[in-house]
Amino acid sequence: MPTLMIDDRKITVEPGTTVMQAADRLGIFIPRFCYHPGLSAVGSCRMCMVEVEKIPKLQTACTTPVVEGMVVHTYTEQVMDARRSVLEFLLINHPLDCPICDKAGECYLQDDYMEYARYTPRYKETRWKKRKVHILGPTIVMDEERCVLCSRCVRFLQEVTGKQRLGIFERGARSVLSTFPGQTLTDPYCGNIVDLCPVGALTDRTFRFQQRVWMLRRGESICPYCARGCNIAVDYNERSDVQINDRRVYRFRPRFNPKVNGHWICDRGRYAYRFIDDARRLREPMLREGKRLVPSGWERTLKRVARRIREVLDTFGPEGMGLILLPSVTIGTARRVRKLFVDDLGLTRIATGPSIDPEADEDSILLRRDRFPNRGGLVAAGFPDGDPGAVTEGVLRGWATGKIKLLYVIGDDLPRFFEETSSFSIPSAGGILILQRSMEGPEDDFARMLLPSAMTAETAGSFVNFEGEEQTFSAVLPPLEEALPDEEILGRLSLLLGLKGEEACRHENSVEEEQG
Ligand code: SF4
Ligand code: SF4
Ligand code: FES
Repeated sequence: MPTLMIDDRKITVEPGTTVMQAADRLGIFIPRFCYHPGLSAVGSCRMCMVEVEKIPKLQTACTTPVVEGMVVHTYTEQVMDARRSVLEFLLINHPLDCPICDKAGECYLQDDYMEYARYTPRYKETRWKKRKVHILGPTIVMDEERCVLCSRCVRFLQEVTGKQRLGIFERGARSVLSTFPGQTLTDPYCGNIVDLCPVGALTDRTFRFQQRVWMLRRGESICPYCARGCNIAVDYNERSDVQINDRRVYRFRPRFNPKVNGHWICDRGRYAYRFIDDARRLREPMLREGKRLVPSGWERTLKRVARRIREVLDTFGPEGMGLILLPSVTIGTARRVRKLFVDDLGLTRIATGPSIDPEADEDSILLRRDRFPNRGGLVAAGFPDGDPGAVTEGVLRGWATGKIKLLYVIGDDLPRFFEETSSFSIPSAGGILILQRSMEGPEDDFARMLLPSAMTAETAGSFVNFEGEEQTFSAVLPPLEEALPDEEILGRLSLLLGLKGEEACRHENSVEEEQG
């Protein structure tokens, strides 16, 4: 294994490692445009030049493999000159857009100019004009003047998704990034090229002009929209007020985790940030009064829930009640459900949602057919493995035939489970349906009580993904309006049911605790 020195620091690395990778490992930052650890190295931008002793010319750190005894300097006068020259060259035709550019605040070009350049421009000639708004697809727009032709976006589509959609056309100063004729960017991983673009050339049409990035705070969570459980950054503005038609969360971006999602996420997960403050979120507990569901506050609603559960259990025994726990809940919630409904109340008619849909999309990149994030976690919490779909069908049959008098459903319905279960409705014999979840749905029409629960980014817990990887996450935001984390709802309900051994309203991972 070769040992080398970078800026007087020694490191031993595996053969084939590049100077850039070795420097990254030491925490020595070398500026870059074209290099990205998830893509092939092409050495095209020349921003990463470093001095290597005994080699007369500067070398590109991203393509130079280390050799035994190598001595590298990343901060000499010659290196600084090279960086300044690359930036001056790139900025010849670059527009002065920073004040209106969405990338400002996280743009490599802007940062590098401030760090290494700060020269007085020498270029007096007319700049090349290119298209400022070139729509590349439903979610991506291109500003051709801002592009530094690093080809990260081209390589991502070629190397990660296997699609040849983008290319660099023309020559010299006329060079421009574009889609191939007749192509649009509709692939389910396209959003990643916006993250990859080191400048403001590619922007997201849903994020464009919504927020300045320095107004956003970054939290960390797990995507709950399939069994992969990609690691995500949640960018939110803590000053936003949803009640005045604002939003708190403005984007999800991938967080690197080599064991789960590498550097990427799919667009399905990426654009799910919109659900968090969506108008269809359930915001307050509701009770049915006549034909209408009316806001009723937690105390009144949960008292009613507890009373109905007691009545059904006293009259019909545990067989009279059914419970569906969808694998969108955390392991902590699943354990609490088990303790409350199985151990304490003795329920036997418990199901854990539908089987994995063999027809659903899946690919070899990330997206899983199973759209629930925590099927493995429910098994870890003591719910049986096997065919959950058959058990769930059994519970729904019991409900449809009137054997189950009260059905309690916990968990989010994305993907819409009941839409796929066309038989779902209120049985002719009547029945009490209680829904505890975060979004409105068509089955609300049948519900007697609605209990709004927090979404994944608003709660803490853990999921077990399809490969058995347990991932723990913290709450990034407080729950929307009166929504509560599932564990807290169940804790309050336990107390109202008079069950011993439950701690009062504990939500062990509340935002307050986390911040404290
Ligand atoms: S659009 Fe962005 S990622 Fe693509 S080549 Fe230009 S600068 Fe690079
Ligand atoms: S692959 Fe699955 S877990 Fe990853 S971002 Fe997409 S939906 Fe979310
Ligand atoms: S980052 Fe090395 S040449 Fe572009």
